[in-house]
Amino acid sequence: MHEIVQDYYGNQLKHTDDLKTNACCDTNVTPSWLKRLLSRIHPEILSRYYGCGLVCPPLLEGCRVLDLGCGSGRDVYLLSQLVGSSGEVIGVDMTDEQLTVANKYQDFHSDVFGYKNVSFLKGYIEHLDKLNLEPNSFDVIVSNCVVNLSPDKDAVLNGINLLLKEGGEFYFSDVYADRRVPTAVRNDPVLYGECLGGALYWNDFLQLARRHGFVDPRLVTDKPILITNPELALRISDLNFVSATYRLFKLKNLETSSEDYAQEVIYLGNIPEHADQFIFDKYHNIERGKKFPVSGNTWRMLHDTRYVNNFNFIGDFSGHLGIFPSYGSNMPFDTTENSKIGSKCC
Ligand SMILES: C[S@@+](CC[C@H](N)C(=O)[O-])C[C@H]1O[C@@H](n2cnc3c(N)ncnc32)[C@H](O)[C@@H]1O
Repeated sequence: MHEIVQDYYGNQLKHTDDLKTNACCDTNVTPSWLKRLLSRIHPEILSRYYGCGLVCPPLLEGCRVLDLGCGSGRDVYLLSQLVGSSGEVIGVDMTDEQLTVANKYQDFHSDVFGYKNVSFLKGYIEHLDKLNLEPNSFDVIVSNCVVNLSPDKDAVLNGINLLLKEGGEFYFSDVYADRRVPTAVRNDPVLYGECLGGALYWNDFLQLARRHGFVDPRLVTDKPILITNPELALRISDLNFVSATYRLFKLKNLETSSEDYAQEVIYLGNIPEHADQFIFDKYHNIERGKKFPVSGNTWRMLHDTRYVNNFNFIGDFSGHLGIFPSYGSNMPFDTTENSKIGSKCC
């Protein structure tokens, strides 16, 4: 599979418009703060963007960030601006042609930003241990439409867990299916290259994450993918695909379920670009200044991480009140027709 994917992203695709579906195509509305940062990135890098979501969580200043399957580096150069001169961003990709473009514009971007904090490494995301990266050294690991392309997703999650600091997070966008992808679809080179064939059934992804210590995966956003190419639509038959962004925290003390300890948090409104509310995940839209009840796990995800200075924390773990009223085991994605990613790329 590595060779098929390298050929697809190294030789067949030269530009975002060459994609045959919108699976690897981020159609999210671009916030104005992001437009400003994107305008400072070289047009050739922007034209070779194949991501499916926004992998820029808040509060990155000074962070050490790793981008898995960075391609020609659009997200690396975005994150470079968000971590600032005291932070660092490393991009990893296995495809020479992508890395050549990424490296070509290093000096351009350090001139525009006024500092250099970016590097690119050639390697496989299944073998992160071969890249001489120090274990427990990254605050944040991101990835944009890449994990689906890996033939060994267990190895990828294992490597991520080893490289993240305690309290660090894997924040990533990817493609998921509403059921297990049949072998014929998985073995179709175009569907695989287009980020559909290797997509995980969403519940298998949750199990995979839990197996590797990320016991409480949090869905941030999701958007159904509409396959407009009639030939490809026929080949995927009844399968439905979604582009989704998850955040997985590396925290030792998380529990396998959301438990209620009568804890609350109050958001202080001090996260840049999120003054009025902080959307932590799809189920936690936390308004500034208001008491917000949280489970023990959410409390820890805010208290034992880089978010600690952005909240007042009320309560502790001394009294347990049972299970926290929470989302159930249904498919977590919105699948209505009008929320589907349309035929037009960004
Ligand atoms: C869909 S593109 C996304 C690129 C980039 N994240 C972006 O948003 O433009 C997938 C990228 O992942 C890389 N890739 C796929 N599988 C990989 C693997 N197993 N190891 C390293 N890189 C991989 C490909 O070379 C390609 O550049």
